[in-house]
Amino acid sequence: MNDKLKNHFETQTRRVDKALDRLIPPLSQRPFDIHKAMRYSVFAGGKRLRPVLVIAGAEVCGGSWKKVLPTACALELIHTYSLIHDDLPAMDNDDLRRGRPTSHKVFGEDMAILAGDALLTHAFFLVAENSKIPGVKSDSILRVISLLSQLAGTAGMIGGQVADVKSGAGRWKKYWKTQYGSKKQLLKFIHHNKTAALIQGSLLAGAILCQASEKQLKALNEFGKNLGLAFQVADDVLDRVGDKKKLGKNGSDVANQKLTYPLLFGLEQSRKMAGILVRRAHRALSPFGERAAILHLLADFVASRDH
Ligand code: IPE
Ligand code: IPE
Ligand code: MG
Ligand code: MG
Ligand code: MG
Repeated sequence: MNDKLKNHFETQTRRVDKALDRLIPPLSQRPFDIHKAMRYSVFAGGKRLRPVLVIAGAEVCGGSWKKVLPTACALELIHTYSLIHDDLPAMDNDDLRRGRPTSHKVFGEDMAILAGDALLTHAFFLVAENSKIPGVKSDSILRVISLLSQLAGTAGMIGGQVADVKSGAGRWKKYWKTQYGSKKQLLKFIHHNKTAALIQGSLLAGAILCQASEKQLKALNEFGKNLGLAFQVADDVLDRVGDKKKLGKNGSDVANQKLTYPLLFGLEQSRKMAGILVRRAHRALSPFGERAAILHLLADFVASRDH
């Protein structure tokens, strides 16, 4: 990772982690079990990409991290919930996440399901709490709630996870015929929805809270779509060839016979496709000029990342 971006991540992550600690119910609050499980997964480490994108979306539109911190935390909670549920035996059946045993391995499936539910619910509480920050307009909070509930739901992340699960165990060979046109279209549908949707939502949420113009939102949406797809293509590649220690997860796409970019196009072509998507992401930033420096660095990171 580029040094400037590394410093940026360190600064923002410090702010976000401090806020998360303050905003997630303490271990001393009953029932202790659930708050322990929530905190276990949130504070396991993790890149904090989505909160960083919320803040970057705000800053590129002239706003400040101070205006969007609870919403940045909310995006991390939605993301963490999605990982806990994604790892469950009924889904990807993974044992390692963020370098630690997965939630269901430590707390049991019952608590892992409930910890995910609780993180998702608490995320929308945090977005509502963001209205208490001076200068944040209530109508922008409503818009963010509406947007995130769609992008985290069946029109976004859940929609993608449904298609991902339905395509698992090699079923993609037939499943694409039900409603997707081609295998490639099914694959794009899965990746746009399970991953890019929340990445777009992060950028847009930060921007909306800082009174972005429609033109700015359109540009961020296009940037996020390409960045998000590139991010998931890289995730698929890393699942095959990445260093498990650096990734903090074991990689289960082959065992689960998932439909992925390397499966359909091979590793080399997948890397090339990620590169094309990143170039499209860079181009989408042109309306912002020099203000978009961090977003450009983020785009470069996504294609070259090793974790
Ligand atoms: C993993 O996301 C799941 C997806 C690919 C969507 P990240 O790679 O951002 O995971 P963390 O937050 O760093 O653990
Ligand atoms: C997960 O995709 C996407 C969501 C959790 C929404 P993956 O199943 O590929 O993510 P990893 O590889 O387990 O992190
Ligand atoms: Mg999965
Ligand atoms: Mg998974
Ligand atoms: Mg993966």
